[in-house]
Amino acid sequence: MAVRPIRTLPDPVLQQRAKRVSSIDGSVQRLIDDMLETMPYAGGVGLAAPQIGVSLRVITLQVPDEEPMVMINPEVVKRSGEREVSEGCLSVPGYVGEIKRSESVTVKGQDRHGKSIRFKATGLTAQALEHELDHLNGVLYLDHLESREDLHRIEPPAPEEEGD
Ligand code: NI
Repeated sequence: MAVRPIRTLPDPVLQQRAKRVSSIDGSVQRLIDDMLETMPYAGGVGLAAPQIGVSLRVITLQVPDEEPMVMINPEVVKRSGEREVSEGCLSVPGYVGEIKRSESVTVKGQDRHGKSIRFKATGLTAQALEHELDHLNGVLYLDHLESREDLHRIEPPAPEEEGD
């Protein structure tokens, strides 16, 4: 396992539609391991593979008080309700925005062993799922802002050790 650098705007990988995973092979398992290590290191509640430069439909989630989760080829089956949330993204450091997300989402996909999974989520888990699934379609939360005034500058993160 390895912590991989987080890609940030304007890296073009963040605006590409990621490819479906056709075979959950060793390289996909290594990708998942790296995502599960990179996500907490970077302090995210979720991570999408394009954020570490891999344009494949894989996401990981780590909502507080819940076990880390992996989804391959995730899809939203159903959305309901609407609520206003404050949202940030590891790939857009230094900003948060007020946008609208669903109250609940039902998603389906596969786990890392290829087993089909389907569940309904609410609250932060639903928000994180919508956020990470957007990444797989090259969409950032910035694309959901209704007004530039809904975007706010926050304390810049600590400088990275790599120095670029
Ligand atoms: Ni993000």
